[in-house]
Amino acid sequence: MSDMQSAAATPSVTRREDYRPPDWLLPEIALDFQLDPVRTTVRARLTVVRNEAHDEPLRLDGDGLKLLEVWHNGKRLEEGDWQLDNDRLTIPLEGGEAIVETLVEIAPEKNSQLMGLYASGGILCTQCEAEGFRRITFFPDRPDVLSRYSVRMEADRDRFPVLLSNGECIESGDGEDGRHWARWYDPWPKPCYLFALVAGDLAANRDSFTTRSGKEVALAIWVREADLPKTGHAMAALKDSMAWDERVYGREYDLDQFNIVAVSDFNFGAMENKSLNIFNSRYILADAETATDADFDAIAGVVAHEYFHNWSGNRVTCRDWFQLSLKEGFTVFRDQQFSADQGSEAVARIGDVRMLRAAQFPEDAGPLAHPVRPESYIEISNFYTATVYNKGAELIRMVQAILGPEDFRKGSDLYFERHDGEAATCEDFVTAMEDASGADLGQFRLWYRQAGTPKVTARLDHDAEGARAVLTLSQTVPATPDQAEKRPMAIPLKTALLGEKSGRPIVPERLVMLEEESQEIVFDGLTERPVLSINRHFTAPVTVESNKDPKTLAFLSAHDDDPFARYEAMQQLMVETIIDAVSGRQTDHAPVIEAVRRTLADGDLDKAFIAEAVILPSESFVGDQMLVVDPEAIHKAREALRGDLARSLAEDWRAAYAASSGNAYEYSPAAKGLRRLRAVALGYIAADGADDAPGLAVRQFEGADNMTDRQAALGVLANSDWPERIAALDDFYARYRDDALVLDKWFMVQAMSIRDDTVTAVEALAAHPDFSIENPNRLRSLVGAFGGNQRAFHTASGRGYRFLADFILKADAINPQTAARLLPPLGKWRRFDEQRGAMMRAELERILAAPDLSKDVFEQASKSLG
Ligand code: TRP
Ligand code: ZN
Repeated sequence: MSDMQSAAATPSVTRREDYRPPDWLLPEIALDFQLDPVRTTVRARLTVVRNEAHDEPLRLDGDGLKLLEVWHNGKRLEEGDWQLDNDRLTIPLEGGEAIVETLVEIAPEKNSQLMGLYASGGILCTQCEAEGFRRITFFPDRPDVLSRYSVRMEADRDRFPVLLSNGECIESGDGEDGRHWARWYDPWPKPCYLFALVAGDLAANRDSFTTRSGKEVALAIWVREADLPKTGHAMAALKDSMAWDERVYGREYDLDQFNIVAVSDFNFGAMENKSLNIFNSRYILADAETATDADFDAIAGVVAHEYFHNWSGNRVTCRDWFQLSLKEGFTVFRDQQFSADQGSEAVARIGDVRMLRAAQFPEDAGPLAHPVRPESYIEISNFYTATVYNKGAELIRMVQAILGPEDFRKGSDLYFERHDGEAATCEDFVTAMEDASGADLGQFRLWYRQAGTPKVTARLDHDAEGARAVLTLSQTVPATPDQAEKRPMAIPLKTALLGEKSGRPIVPERLVMLEEESQEIVFDGLTERPVLSINRHFTAPVTVESNKDPKTLAFLSAHDDDPFARYEAMQQLMVETIIDAVSGRQTDHAPVIEAVRRTLADGDLDKAFIAEAVILPSESFVGDQMLVVDPEAIHKAREALRGDLARSLAEDWRAAYAASSGNAYEYSPAAKGLRRLRAVALGYIAADGADDAPGLAVRQFEGADNMTDRQAALGVLANSDWPERIAALDDFYARYRDDALVLDKWFMVQAMSIRDDTVTAVEALAAHPDFSIENPNRLRSLVGAFGGNQRAFHTASGRGYRFLADFILKADAINPQTAARLLPPLGKWRRFDEQRGAMMRAELERILAAPDLSKDVFEQASKSLG
């Protein structure tokens, strides 16, 4: 197979500095599909135009295509008039313009990579980003070649009654032998990664949206008929997103229709194809019975994300894939803003930061670290990362903090206006922000180039007599692969000083720019001893070390006027308490217990915030703070603190549980907050080991009128040694075995269990009849979740490592993209003890030695060995 290669062969590296403009432009393409799952033919008619003077032939990318015919200006070419090597079709052309036509054959049913045209549950659909279009037809598969698409497709009418593509349907009719056809035209020039086609037996939830200039847009969410009742939330989110982008960014939708299709087999979350978004069904389908509050929130976030891409991604696209964060970082930032506007801003921000710390900080600290704008890649699919997406979003957020919201909006207006219809770069974005505001973002640009999470040290010295305080800030950026030397970054830190006694801000919040290796800031006229509150709202994606004692952290967790900073102080207090225990230092749980007690009792706080603030940091987050991770010791120390919190505050947890119970299901920020607090309280009640805890969990599990409460109870039961555990798991399975998305939860809850026998359980689940390695959601629910379960994955025997490596190899033969995304946990080998490290390395070496490894897995495994 063309995309496979042995580890011995050197896979080619693509470098950012090698970018050259395309030799040939492609203003028009006409595609004709004869669709059939077994054998589909694709006729492509390309209008090619020479881009400036050169002697280069036309080069078209292909991947796994069976080439049947090549035509040039209406004449069929003989073999020899063109060349095909390494899946690249080369056709010498004279003159400035030509019509080139190819006919190829593909087999959607055999496409297990889920890139290109494939079949999912009887639906034919496409996924072209990043380089999937070449698996459909020969084409210059790069994002800076923009074309107008005209698409004709024909398929069996009974099996594929609905035929969709980008733009508008301009004609349709019946063909021969029970077939029918449709013709679609998209007036907006687009790169081929935004092409999409769907054919299937689908039903639509239809609605409409009137834009602020009065244009009516027909909306449709296409799913299997039986799933229609689960599309209401996604439709509401779509309409909210459309209105939000008009209100907040002044961006209007630009076609008469907008279609979303949900499919069950999908490599990522969703795809922003022009006017035909294709979604992983888990980000569309929801009702109270089968989806949690977190699922509902994720659906709204992803629907918004894909919709927002219509401007940040489609109208202005990327020049090359190194610029990926231009559309992804900006669009994640936009969807985060949208989500924050739906409920509590602080809780949304806590969620963003939690995600960044769980996924991006470890990436930035490991062998796969790369800048937000990478310098090179072997396989671009490996760069759809937390760094490009989430750190990329933080960069945009910093620009907004530096410019202020008004100038930021001027900057985004200028960016959209200046680059509309173009393939742009990250540099273009920053320049537009500068031009609109007059700000100098020269040093800020380093954030795009330098990998690694900067470490800021902050020390506040108070001189009581002079009524002044000096804040000493310094920064270091850790070395990362290919980047030993770093320059100081421009780090925006929102900072305030609080009075140690009054708890009030005595120096109001202001933006401090740390630009040097070290810097001093003087505060005068202080009447009270100050306490430092820094990186408020998490303005910069850095770690801050300010050696505050537990007393000060507890103080901030109770008094800081920035709710995010309160959360942050509490987290730091908890992490330090756990690390003290792991390191064998004397541990005092009292400050954490006191801080949690106070937070639980604070009537001014909303419940969702309280719930987030009192959750202990995860075992892997604690591990990430340590030079050498001892997973067993971390587990023990964290459980000891959890048990102590449970016992010492037994009455408080029961009160919180009682106060958040008994309300009928409703989807609102307040009701969500109550459910969240209820789940957290139940977890602590269970950790206390009280006799009535199993009964309480079972009652919640059985009596729940929504999946949030039911899954929370199942999680507590799945973590327990109670005899009720098995019955609950069996009951959940029996109830939901026919609902794939809910069954994913059943697998995931067990893969994430803190029980001692989780490895054994996970090995058994891999042999369960409902497990499937072909379906990415199911694979991630079991194997992906297991890789994130620090203690179970790092079981001293090494069984966890072997299990994961076996799956990476098996999955690689089916779906390399998804296989490669399972690999990062093995790359952490440097952070573990010698025995574990050696076993992890051995698995990476075993993977690399496998024959026919994909370049996706090759890149991740070889870089992980470093
Ligand atoms: N552009 C998509 C998004 O962020 C991501 C995506 C969907 C993707 N499917 C993919 C990326 C397949 C690579 C391969 O919204
Ligand atoms: Zn995106």
